[in-house]
Amino acid sequence: MRKEQNEVIVSIKDLKKHFPVKLGAFGERSGIVHAIDGISMDIHRGETLGLVGESGCGKSTTAFVIVQLYRATSGFVFFKGVDLTKLSERELRPMRTKIQIIFQDPYSTLNPRMTIGESIGEPIRAHKLMNNKEIKQHVFELLKDVGLKSSFANRYAHELSGGQQQRICIARALAINPEFVVCDEPVSALDVSVQAQIINLMQDLQEKYKLTYLFIAHNLAVVRHISDRIAVMYLGRIAEIAEKNEIFDHTLHPYTKALLSAVPEADPKIERQRHRIILEGDVPDAISPPSGCRFHTRCPIAKEKCSQEIPDLEEKRPGHYVACHYASEEKEK
Ligand SMILES: Nc1ncnc2c1ncn2[C@@H]1O[C@H](COP(=O)(O)OP(=O)(O)O)[C@@H](O)[C@H]1O
Ligand code: SF4
Ligand SMILES: [Mg+2]
Repeated sequence: MRKEQNEVIVSIKDLKKHFPVKLGAFGERSGIVHAIDGISMDIHRGETLGLVGESGCGKSTTAFVIVQLYRATSGFVFFKGVDLTKLSERELRPMRTKIQIIFQDPYSTLNPRMTIGESIGEPIRAHKLMNNKEIKQHVFELLKDVGLKSSFANRYAHELSGGQQQRICIARALAINPEFVVCDEPVSALDVSVQAQIINLMQDLQEKYKLTYLFIAHNLAVVRHISDRIAVMYLGRIAEIAEKNEIFDHTLHPYTKALLSAVPEADPKIERQRHRIILEGDVPDAISPPSGCRFHTRCPIAKEKCSQEIPDLEEKRPGHYVACHYASEEKEK
């Protein structure tokens, strides 16, 4: 672990985001989507915290609430000690230069009518950080940093491949020199052959720009390479969080065990012996989530207590937190 990782740069405490929704064919009933329901975690300066979980478990909502694209229903998001949830839009403005987000779909992030140069320069202009000449120079440097020629500045998003578009979004996110970047499945929409290139680029840029990442993916294989620590989410809550090797070598939560069992092994000998845990059923509805432990409807080792009592996220090994009444390293059958 790098030294600077001890400083907590982002701290989330009991964060909740509920969406009121209309239900039924004619919207005659109302309900509440418990998209995130009491998440707490710290992110250290210079680290990459990987956040994984199945589609619909609340990863994007977590990302959007942290960067204040959504305002929290309750709870706190501290950035360098300042609670962002209490700030007005005006007070948030200077903070927004320090926190950036990269989305899953680069094309919808980029304005189709702007040249690439204008798109990358736009946040610098919006925050009035440089004059036009400086912006031009800076855009060329950013293009070089993301592995593209300066001639890309005159092109338009639709002329570019998905990988090139995501490189542009990365350049745009870095244009105003942020400290913390939330990456919401930045490679999920890209060809598998391009994914590793983008992940390697993001790692290089992390070193160069001294960035802290929250890196989201629905697949453990993707976050394995880039993460220092990994948090596993299930239906709006954190199931387990620990350093990468700790979580792979001493997995404690039955859900993490199931996710890990789905990751193919590079070594064919180990791969042949890999025991897959198949989870029964779909992720339950976030409008009426299961009582007690939210995983109890699919957990292979659930007992009576699991449907009655919510398990707290507890430190079971040094720096290794897990929310399960029966957490153990034993392999599930
Ligand atoms: N704006 C919204 N209004 C209502 N429900 C939403 C909204 N955004 C997300 N949700 C719901 O919140 C839950 C979590 O969604 P999301 O954060 O997008 O999950 P993930 O990114 O892990 O796939 C899902 O049930 C989703 O349908
Ligand atoms: S608390 Fe119970 S249902 Fe939840 S993960 Fe642990 S054993 Fe399974
Ligand atoms: Mg998402």
